[in-house]
Amino acid sequence: MVNYKVTTTVFGERPDFKEPRKILQELGRDGFGVMMDRFYDIVVESDIANFFPQDKEMLEKVKKHNTKFFVEACGGEKEYTQEVGHKDMVEMHKPFSIPEKARVEWLGCMKELLEEMDISDEAKQEFWDYCELFSKHMVNKPTNLEAHMSLADHR
Ligand code: HEM
Repeated sequence: MVNYKVTTTVFGERPDFKEPRKILQELGRDGFGVMMDRFYDIVVESDIANFFPQDKEMLEKVKKHNTKFFVEACGGEKEYTQEVGHKDMVEMHKPFSIPEKARVEWLGCMKELLEEMDISDEAKQEFWDYCELFSKHMVNKPTNLEAHMSLADHR
């Protein structure tokens, strides 16, 4: 059984995470590419579709980059570093206003994907745990409560 837990982001925290290994070993590079294609099919049907380019060619580029990043994060060749040359995901996501709600929806897409895949539960769990923690780094818009509290600090 895979535990698809989602813990709440504390705005600004950068939790440690462990890069997964099993998923790429089980799928191989080609299978991993198929998985990422499917991820984006799910994303474009989701409530965060509006974050992503509507233009097919632009979306293909995002997909390609994201696939290379994940391959590298999962212990594969340094495909992303070689092609894009940097790896600061916090900076990369800054132009987009990403609240916790968008992160939770993104994780929902990932859960849907993993649930339909034929790999071991261990591989799914390891990948999920990485995504669950690493995605917290991408949250760059505080909730209203957090915004009120930070204002209150300055009053
Ligand atoms: C573990 C979590 C995540 C990882 C590893 C990740 C990684 C990436 C990577 C590698 C790219 C492509 C960067 C490039 O073109 O060089 C990308 C693009 C993007 N990501 Fe994420 N991401 C994550 C979570 C999220 C979340 C939660 C959102 C919220 C909606 C998001 C929104 C976006 C958007 C909008 C783009 C497209 C940028 C563009 O148009 O070029 N990401 N992400």
